[in-house]
Amino acid sequence: MLPKGNFPEKVYLNGEIVTADNAKISVFDRGFLFGDGIYEVMMQLENGIFYKRAHLDRLQDNLDKIGIPYYVKGIDDNLDGLLHAAGLKGESCLIYMQVTRGVAPRKHSYPKNVPPSVMMYALPYNLPPINLKNMKAVLEPDFRWHRCDIKSISLLGNIMTNETAMNANTDEAVLVRNGIISEGSHTNIFFVEDGNVITHPANEHILNGISRQIVIKLCRKLEIPVIEKPVAENEVKNMNEAFFTGTTTQVASISQLGDHIFYKNDAIGEVTARLQKAFAELRTMDSSHITL
Ligand code: PDD
Repeated sequence: MLPKGNFPEKVYLNGEIVTADNAKISVFDRGFLFGDGIYEVMMQLENGIFYKRAHLDRLQDNLDKIGIPYYVKGIDDNLDGLLHAAGLKGESCLIYMQVTRGVAPRKHSYPKNVPPSVMMYALPYNLPPINLKNMKAVLEPDFRWHRCDIKSISLLGNIMTNETAMNANTDEAVLVRNGIISEGSHTNIFFVEDGNVITHPANEHILNGISRQIVIKLCRKLEIPVIEKPVAENEVKNMNEAFFTGTTTQVASISQLGDHIFYKNDAIGEVTARLQKAFAELRTMDSSHITL
């Protein structure tokens, strides 16, 4: 039996839809033994699954990067059935998916001819059109590996730093590698300086968030100059605004980062507010087929 908590009712597991209690995998699954797998999180909102194609494309790209032989069409074809079984067809919900390299005797090298393990579930989840929370964040050393572009299920660095943020009564940990701000523990971070929007380039030090890519596109559409360049920890004091992006975070203003206070109250910067509004407007259409 599962402990008490917000578990989904149904789970898709390797071609079957089962109750959460019956969703069981082998202890020899490489996801369990090595954290050898990729995951993805997306939201179903009023007008379909928000940027579904972009999320599934990223999942495929990540599976290809680590050589797991799985085609995400399998997930796409089964999403509808899962949502139906979970009673969440057309409802606001969060969809979690993960694919691991499957069950094999414990050996580091990739096993041959082993079917990947595929799991997904949907949970009721309401996202307000605009995230009005003004977030506080701590600065923490980014001691993760050098392939943060891979959406690996091994998230120890992310969860350890996030725990530090929670213990400090803040909302997020912002990670710093060699003096450079990379990203949040589960978000991307943007700054605004003299009207320019600045964010870390999409390389192996950050996850190239779908929300990040959407916001960059929105900046171009709104003719807000956007620069993909690193921001150093000691430059934070020069920034006028800062915000996080992420699938459940959407666009969230930052009121305090480390010692630097952007706002003492609930104020939200002008550029951040514009982007929040533009991001919310994307929900009024079906974005499920858009590629990024
Ligand atoms: N986190 N950076 C990291 C390290 C992340 O884990 C995430 C997402 C993002 C934002 O990516 P996107 O905009 O595609 O959600 C950036 C997910 C939501 C999670 O782990 O729950």
